[in-house]
Parts: sequence; C-alpha cells; structure tokens
Amino acid sequence: MAGSDQLVAAARAARENAVADFSHFKVGAALETDTGEIITGCNVENATYGLTICAERVAIFKALSEGKRSFKRIAVVADTAEPSSPCGACRQIIWEFCGDIPVVLANLTTVVATLQMKDLLPLPFDKRLL
Ligand code: THU
Repeated sequence: MAGSDQLVAAARAARENAVADFSHFKVGAALETDTGEIITGCNVENATYGLTICAERVAIFKALSEGKRSFKRIAVVADTAEPSSPCGACRQIIWEFCGDIPVVLANLTTVVATLQMKDLLPLPFDKRLL
C-alpha cells in the first residue's frame, strides 16, 4: 500500500501538469488502487470553459479506462491554505466508482484535512436506487 506521503507527492507532481490557462487554479489528484498502484490526474481547461474536467475525474477515468475497478484512497492537491474539496460532480463520480474512501486534501506543503466520502456526499444517488 502506498504511504499517504507517496500519494500526496504523486498528486503534487500531477498538479504541475494542470492545463489551467483560464483559472490559473492548478489541481492534482492521485488515486490508489486496491493493489497499491497510483493513478494521477490534473485539471484540464479549454476555451469553452464548460468542458473543463477536474483533476479527480481525470484520475478516475484514466484508472477505469485501464481496467482498474477497486480503489482505496484519493489525494487532492491545490495551492490553498484551506482544504480545497472536490466539486459536486467529482463527489458523485468518486462515490459511484470508489465508494466510501478517505479523501486526503493537501496543499503544496502539508495535508490539511482527510474526510470520508460518505461525509462529503450525504444521501447519495447511486445504482442502489435504479
Ligand atoms: N477543479 C478541480 O480540478 N478539482 C476540484 O475539485 C475543484 C476544481 C478545477 C476545475 C478548474 O479547472 C479549476 O479547478 C477552477 O475551478
């Protein structure tokens, strides 16, 4: 299993690849699979703005597209003193594909919070209701 430091370091490195020419708000994410592999993502913005995809969803979709289906933790890094928490769309996707995993929120120097997905997305809509 990757250490928390290793996961956060991977998210920090991924953040450097952010394509954030419009907001200049760079985000990195790192997802740990059940076998301890780390899959990273960064936010990718484009000229329409609305087609922007967050770092968390890039990491999850990359992992899913490589056949990974079981995840243990996700780390998210932004350059903020306060925890920079996943947006609503990312909460839904993290919940559906990762379940109640810990979400490690860090900045460039330290971990600022660790929260469980069930607390970030109370009363979720998911496949149990379909
Ligand atoms: N962003 C993320 O990548 N993850 C989040 O959880 C929140 C927001 C990105 C989207 C956009 O490129 C920039 O941060 C500003 O909203």
